[in-house]
Amino acid sequence: MKKEKSAISLKDSYKNDFYIGTALSADQIEEKNAKEDSLIKKEFNAITAENIMKSMFVHPFKDKYDFALTDKFIAYGEKNKMFIHGHTLIWHSQLAPWMQKIKDSTEMKAFIKDHITTIVSKYKGRVDSWDVVNEALNEDGTLRKSIFLNTLGESYLVDAFKWAAAADPKVDLYYNDYNNEAPAKRAGNIALIKKIKAAGGKIDGVGIQAHWKLNHPALEEIEKSILEYSAAGVKVAFTELDISVLPDPHNLNGADVNQNFELNAKMNPYPKSLPDSVQVKLAERYASIFKLFLKHKDKISRVTFWGVHDGQSWLNDWPIKGRTNYPLLFDKDLKHKKAYNSVIELKETKQ
Ligand code: XIL
Repeated sequence: MKKEKSAISLKDSYKNDFYIGTALSADQIEEKNAKEDSLIKKEFNAITAENIMKSMFVHPFKDKYDFALTDKFIAYGEKNKMFIHGHTLIWHSQLAPWMQKIKDSTEMKAFIKDHITTIVSKYKGRVDSWDVVNEALNEDGTLRKSIFLNTLGESYLVDAFKWAAAADPKVDLYYNDYNNEAPAKRAGNIALIKKIKAAGGKIDGVGIQAHWKLNHPALEEIEKSILEYSAAGVKVAFTELDISVLPDPHNLNGADVNQNFELNAKMNPYPKSLPDSVQVKLAERYASIFKLFLKHKDKISRVTFWGVHDGQSWLNDWPIKGRTNYPLLFDKDLKHKKAYNSVIELKETKQ
C-alpha cells in the first residue's frame, strides 16, 4: 500500500539503514520556531549542536563552563528519543580566547584533560558519540600545526582519546575532518587511527564532514573512503553533509572556517531563487550519494545534514559573506526540494 505523502519522513524511510541527523542552531534547540521544530521532530532522529558545544561557548573562561544551552540540547534529544552527537571537544577554531593564549605545554595538557573530562563526564551515558578531535590534519595528510600540536606534539591526540574513554567508557569516540575522503588526507587519517589504536587509545569512528559540491568529490573517492576506513576498524559517519551549488573562490579547498573572500555578483548567481536546472542537478547528486551510502549501509552509522533548511545554512556566509546558497533538502520556507524527493524515492516506491 502506498504511504500518504505526509506520513513519509527521512528518518522513517532510512530507519533500517542509518541515523539521519541534522545540526541545530541555538534557536532550534530552544524550540523558538514551531514550524521548524515540528519538521525537525518529523524528519530527523539524530542531532548535533551546530555551535553551542564548541569551546568558546561551553568553556568561555578558564574556571567557568556554561552548560545552559548544552543542557537544553541534551534534554531536547532525550525528549525526542534522538541519537545525540557531541561536537566538538578539541578543535583549533572557535577556541575560547583564553585558550588561544596558552603557550606552556603543562598548562595546555591540563586544559585539554580538564575540558574533556568535565564535559564527557557531565553527559556520561546521555551523549551517544563525541567528536573528540576535529580537523587535526593538513590536506597532504600531515598533522596540522595547531596550537595543540605546537605546544604538546602529537601525543595530544592519543591523550585526548584516552581521557574521553576514561570519562565515559561506553560512548563512541570519533575523529572528524573535512576532505578526509581525498586520497592523501585519507591516508593520513588512516595512519592517525592506527596510531591511536596502537597506543591503546579507543577510537570507534571517523567523521567525514562532507561539505561537498555538485561535481566534487568523485563518488569513487567517497566509496574508497568508506571501504578503507571500515577496513581500519572504525565506523564511518557523514557528519556535516551539505552540497554547495555556488561557484568557489579561486584556490578554495575544503571547509576551513577561517577562510573568507569578497562578495561580488558573479559569486552570487542565484540571489532570489535556484533555477530548476540546478535543482535537478542537486537532486541527482544527492540521489547518487545516498545510493552509495545505502550500498554500504552496514559500514555507515549516521548521515547528518549541516542544518535543517537552506535559510539557516552556514554556506550563506562562508566562504563569502552574504550569498544565497541552496545546499540542503528543505528550502528556506521549509518546503521539500527536488533533492528531498530524490533521497526519499530511493527508499519508497515512486508516487
Ligand atoms: C560552522 C557553523 O556552521 C557556523 O555557524 C560557525 O560560524 C562556524 O562553524 N566544520 C565544522 C563545523 O566542524 O563546526 C563548522 O560549523 C563547519 C566546518
